[in-house]
Parts: sequence; C-alpha cells; structure tokens
Amino acid sequence: MVYFEKSDALKRLPKQFFADLVVKTNAAIAKGYDVINLGQGNPDQPTPPHIVKSLQEAAANPLYHKYSPFRGYDFLKEAIAAFYKREYDVAIDPKTEVAILFGSKTGLVEIGECILNSGDTVLMPDPGYPDYLSGFALANLNMETMPLRAENAFLPDYASMPDTLLDKAKLMFLNYPNNPTSATAPADFFEETVKVAEKHNICVLHDFAYGALGFDGKKPRSFLQTPGAKEVGIETYTLSKTYNMAGWRVGFALGNKSIIEAIELFQDHYFVSLFGAIQEASAKALLGPQDCVRELVQRYETRRNAFFDAAKKIGWNAVPSQGSFFGWLPVAKGFTSESFFEYVLDKAHVVLAPGVGFGKGGENYVRIGLLSEPERLTEAVERIGKLHLFD
Ligand SMILES: Cc1ncc(COP(=O)(O)O)c(C=O)c1O
Repeated sequence: MVYFEKSDALKRLPKQFFADLVVKTNAAIAKGYDVINLGQGNPDQPTPPHIVKSLQEAAANPLYHKYSPFRGYDFLKEAIAAFYKREYDVAIDPKTEVAILFGSKTGLVEIGECILNSGDTVLMPDPGYPDYLSGFALANLNMETMPLRAENAFLPDYASMPDTLLDKAKLMFLNYPNNPTSATAPADFFEETVKVAEKHNICVLHDFAYGALGFDGKKPRSFLQTPGAKEVGIETYTLSKTYNMAGWRVGFALGNKSIIEAIELFQDHYFVSLFGAIQEASAKALLGPQDCVRELVQRYETRRNAFFDAAKKIGWNAVPSQGSFFGWLPVAKGFTSESFFEYVLDKAHVVLAPGVGFGKGGENYVRIGLLSEPERLTEAVERIGKLHLFD
C-alpha cells in the first residue's frame, strides 16, 4: 500500500486528551470494577417522545427524501427566530440572521475558515471547551488564551489584557453557562464584552450550548440580549442539551448578518442541509410544549444538590454549579488534576475529567458530569470520601 501523508492542516490538529482517559476507564471496567463514570458530557436521558414521534411521522414524507434546500427549510429558521423571541425577547430575521448547523460543533469549528485567515489571532478561554482548538488548527490561527479564574467568577478579565493583544485579536470565543467551570455570565459582563469588541474590532462567538440549563430559578442570558451584540458577533445554540437530541446533530448560529452569510456560503460548498424530517421535528421541539425542558433542568438541579451536598460532607468544598450539567471542583492537596484522576480511578473506581484537559488554567481542578442519578452521584462522592483526601 502506498502511504499517503496527511495534510498539514490535519497534522496541526491537537491530540485528543480525553482519548487516553477513555482507554484507562475501559481498562478498569474490563477488570470487572463497578466504575462510576463522571468524566463524560453525553446527555443520559432520551429525546422527549413527542419529538421522536414528529420525526417518525415526518420521515414518511416523500418531500424529505429529496435534497433539502442548501441552507435549510425556511420553517426551521422561522421556528428558531420564534424560539429566540419567546425565550429571550431577541428579534432575529430568519432570512438573514440564522444559519442551520450540523450540531453547534460544526459552527464552532468552521468559523475560523469562514471569517479569518491563516495567522490571525483568536482568543480562547482557559480552561475552555477543547473542540474549539480543532477549528483553530484547521484554519491555522494563532491562539491566545484568556484565563478564567475563580476569583473573577470564571469570566475573562478584559482589564488585565493588554491593548496590543486585544487590537491583534479578530475573534473571541465565550461560553456561558460554561463548560467546564459551570459558571454563568451576568448582563454587565456581556455589556463589557460588546464594548471591548467594538473598541478593538473583535468578532465575538458566544457558545450557548447550555443555554437552557440554569439553576436556582436563574435563566441563563443569551449574549444577543445585550444591546449591540448583533453588531459584533453571533451566538451558537444546540438542541443537543435542551432536548436531549445530541445524536440528531441539530444546531444553529444567529446574529451578525455578515458572519451568518459567510457560514452559509461555506456550508453551501461542504454540505446540503440536514434531513428534512429532522428539520421538521426540530421546529416542533422549539415551538411545542416546553415542560420537558423544565423537567430536565429540575432533574439536573436535583443531581447537582445531591452531589454538592455529599461533597460538602466529606470536606470537598466547591461552589455548586450555576448552570450546564457539570461541576468544577478542586483536586485534593498534593495532586495534579491528572494524578488525582488516576488515584481516584484506581482506588475508588470513579472517573473524573482532569481539568488540565481543558487548558493549563484547568490544572488543580476536575470536572464532573451530572449525568447519573442522585444515588450514583452520592455513592461516587462517598467512595472518594473513604480515601480521606479532604479530611
Ligand atoms: C461547550 C460546548 N459547546 C458545544 C458543544 C457541541 O454540541 P453539539 O455539537 O452537540 O451542538 C458542546 C458539547 O458537548 C459543548 O460542551
């Protein structure tokens, strides 16, 4: 066989940090241990039945057996605009301000190639969602990090960033409710973001993947609720978390027309839009009854309470999650995030995600997923408690 070299773009792709952890987790399972895996971020509940039923019915419609319109069906874009109006009181023009994505990950990865050029600078939160890095590598961007520190409520501190850096940056990624820290962003932070973006001519991409998941009765804010946000950026949203539709691959980007047009043009050349029946069921999810979303938030909140109450009992002190379905906790004294992961897996058969996998700023932390029932979460903490690491 002739060996064909990979392109330079593929060679630039980052190593998948979490792949090694999956191997270690599977090895522990293969040894027969009852492993509690809190390391992953895959929603554990099924898609609500009324949405599945819509897909089943729509799948029989011969219209959808043809190619979908390149940029998706108007009815889905109109449903997205209605959803944003209803949920956030944000007015969106469905014709020019929405692009449909194959899951929001696609938009996050392709944005660099859509509006930047090789060598341009992008600002990445640290810690942050590692999939952003794939897009930076493909578009050959220069990445600079914005530290998210506990003392600053896990928000970037623009005042501490030099003007030279902000002037150089062309794109900034933000994500609230945040993966991995579970922090949410207040209105004044988004207002400051718009000011910084205007002053330094930076495009803001706000990743709102966990937009529906806010606790203690506090609904997370959309970046687009901020005056001027549409002038400087876009927001990406996904049905993966709100409706447990991760496998369906439905996301969208909304906001600044010029960026939406760039995404649409890029996608015209890569894809034909999603299966029409999925688009119909997605529109029904957005416009239909929302009890399923309220129940889901309640479910995660109950799990969060169970986990953090148990953690407190063993002396593992951390700020309970404000949103998302993650928790972000410090490692015990004397450990790195990786050595803590190894130790806890080995001795308690509990899998945690080492914070360093989300960037240097994640060192000294682990992320847990609230994706198991309360009893299982409590058991995980109790097993860790028996190691007496926080006494
Ligand atoms: C922060 C963040 N953004 C985006 C995504 C991508 O979601 P999807 O591609 O399913 O829309 C995820 C998924 O885990 C995520 O955690």
